[in-house]
Amino acid sequence: MYRPDDESAVMALWRDAFPDPAPWNEPRSVIAKKLATQPDLFFVAVSEGAVVGTAMGGFDGHRGWLYTVAVRPDLRRLGIGTALVRHVEAALETLGCSKVNLQVLASNASVVAFYARLGYAVEERVSMGKRLAS
Ligand SMILES: CC(C)(COP(=O)(O)OP(=O)(O)OC[C@H]1O[C@@H](n2cnc3c(N)ncnc32)[C@H](O)[C@@H]1OP(=O)(O)O)[C@@H](O)C(=O)NCCC(=O)NCCS
Repeated sequence: MYRPDDESAVMALWRDAFPDPAPWNEPRSVIAKKLATQPDLFFVAVSEGAVVGTAMGGFDGHRGWLYTVAVRPDLRRLGIGTALVRHVEAALETLGCSKVNLQVLASNASVVAFYARLGYAVEERVSMGKRLAS
């Protein structure tokens, strides 16, 4: 589970994993908003006292969502990302969630193999979104 002391380490990890975020994905604000809404679904992986990975879940009573899955570059391909996703899935299941969705940026297509290995399938959907004032 994320703790307030983890903020700077998480921000550093995301700066590397998610470079050039859109203004609404500015890490400090993403963290603050998550702490205000379902903070129990914000997980960090810790190794030797250091934050080495993150994953967030969200559940709206109908679907679960997976966000900000990231692992420190020097520790990738060791199963940490898998463990984080499994952890979010288990937490979502506990809440009664029966389906998890996620989105991958078209520019990040290589990560599709990671999720496919974990049982996720590419679904024929048109993803739409709209920014609200807040
Ligand atoms: C995606 C990410 C979280 C994976 O974390 P990880 O700890 O390396 O993942 P795992 O070690 O659990 O990988 C499990 C399997 O997924 C597949 N996989 C993982 N990364 C992959 C990649 N870059 N390309 C192809 N397959 C990959 C492999 O089959 C791997 O098993 P293997 O190492 O035995 O071959 C990590 O690469 C990352 O932080 N990327 C940058 C952030 C990002 O793009 N996040 C996703 C946003 S949608």
